[in-house]
Amino acid sequence: MKKKDLRSHEWFGREGKMGFIYRSWMRNQGIPDDGFDGRPVIGICNTWSELTPCNAHFRELAESVKKGVLEAGGFPLEFPITSLGETMMRPTAMLFRNLASMDAEETIRANPLDGVVLLCGCDKTTPSALMGAASVNLPTIVVSGGPMLNGKYQGGDIGSGTHVFKFSEDLRAGKMSPRQFAMAEACMSRSQGHCMTMGTASTMACMIEALGMTLPGGAAIPAADSRRKVFAQLAGRRIVEMVEEDLKISDIITREAVENAIVVNAGVGGSTNLVIHLTAIAGRVGVKIELDDFDKLGSKVPLLVNLLPSGKYLMEDFYYAGGLPVVINELRNMLHVNVMTANGKSMAENVAETECFNRDVIATVEKPVQEAAGIAVLRGNLAKNGAIIKPSAATQSLMVHKGKAVVFENIKDFHARVDDPMLEIDSDSVMVLKNVGPKGYPGMAEVGNMPLPKKILQQGITDMVRISDGRMSGTAFGTVVLHVSPESAIGGTLALVENGDMIELDVPNRKLHLDVDESELARRSTALSQTDGESARGYVKLYIDHVQQADQGADMDFLVGKSGSYVPKDNH
Ligand code: FES
Repeated sequence: MKKKDLRSHEWFGREGKMGFIYRSWMRNQGIPDDGFDGRPVIGICNTWSELTPCNAHFRELAESVKKGVLEAGGFPLEFPITSLGETMMRPTAMLFRNLASMDAEETIRANPLDGVVLLCGCDKTTPSALMGAASVNLPTIVVSGGPMLNGKYQGGDIGSGTHVFKFSEDLRAGKMSPRQFAMAEACMSRSQGHCMTMGTASTMACMIEALGMTLPGGAAIPAADSRRKVFAQLAGRRIVEMVEEDLKISDIITREAVENAIVVNAGVGGSTNLVIHLTAIAGRVGVKIELDDFDKLGSKVPLLVNLLPSGKYLMEDFYYAGGLPVVINELRNMLHVNVMTANGKSMAENVAETECFNRDVIATVEKPVQEAAGIAVLRGNLAKNGAIIKPSAATQSLMVHKGKAVVFENIKDFHARVDDPMLEIDSDSVMVLKNVGPKGYPGMAEVGNMPLPKKILQQGITDMVRISDGRMSGTAFGTVVLHVSPESAIGGTLALVENGDMIELDVPNRKLHLDVDESELARRSTALSQTDGESARGYVKLYIDHVQQADQGADMDFLVGKSGSYVPKDNH
């Protein structure tokens, strides 16, 4: 690409007043003349924040990217965008995913950038940054921040999130003391990085690698491993070449790449959150995927990666076993391996020389951890636009189940009554939680894996069928039906369920049925009182007014698609 063809030339290559303005203020950072000599300007889009502990090491990582950009002859400029800390943000970080995507999109488009490196880690920071960048469609590469080292407690490994759910149930059942619980808290997060289970952050890191949006082999490198810095530095070098090659996001995220990401997610036992994020990302580049594609392409795929919450190991073990390239190589017959990836090579070339060092961590297709473990899409009168379940994290004996509904109207009602000794519930009941969807919560919180009632836990029961229009943490497990669409807050059938109604879950036949006849449902629907909801303003109002349902990726209707990088107007 010639200098004058670079997008940044529109700013830094200008003469007269505008050139003066664009360059002069930048010079206060100590930039010599040759910073503006027409070299590619690379934006380092940083989701660093001390309020996002999983991304708190990103300033250091950005330095490695810069080193690589400079080595390759580019001009790196780091900038912040809204960072979403999963463990901190109320009511849920998901409420702000679309906001952060708007921040990424507008910041990238408005500035003199030729290429972008996205630094992402914690759950929502990856989809938000990639959604925004995809709507601009410049040459872009993603650098994930890497997982934490394995948690260690009483001589064994413990995993982010997954063990929080387990320990808190043990505490409530009286199997763990408050002192042990406090000790576990101090042992779990012992290095920089994101959740080290196959939770949503690790799933997102695998997704970007399966999409081809990062350098191969990066997903599993622990954040604390020096090779994470090398990975960042090499990405810095590569993005300069990508600008020269004009290799844009839409050249990489194609229909085939999206299908690859679905298949790989099934193989790694990835989070249910991938469904919603991948749908939204694909929507930004104009690739249309349906909810049923996840089932069609993923549900028959064997589970190869033996990681919590579906298995027993953690991301550190995954890396030492060979990481994602081994999984991709195993699954190659189910993948479009000729797709172009960020390093300029095909996926087939990238995984040609992989080697597995631990078959207990990464299994083979012939002898998988579990057969046909990908996400299943359920339909029926209770979820006319679909709902999902992750069989690999569920109890097999509950995959076909009929039980009476125990209904919680909202999350407040759930917390108020779940441990009430008078609650009429037994292990065959089906727990139903309403009003936790995109508009209802708002933000579609990760509360779908609602904790079991104390009196059930005390009977030694560890799983029950649970249904909601919310999401669940990628680190969670259980027979949990999620993302029910349409959600109850807009009058979906879920809103009509009453205590004692029979509900039928039949995962093999993809069925989710409320055993109440149509005339009774119509009567209930007419009687349904319209919740006024909390009065919203600002971004939350915008979100509630425009967010789409879960099966469409919960993006805002006016954000779907891309408008490119061209900005015709000067700022002065
Ligand atoms: Fe940040 Fe899990 S809380 S990745």
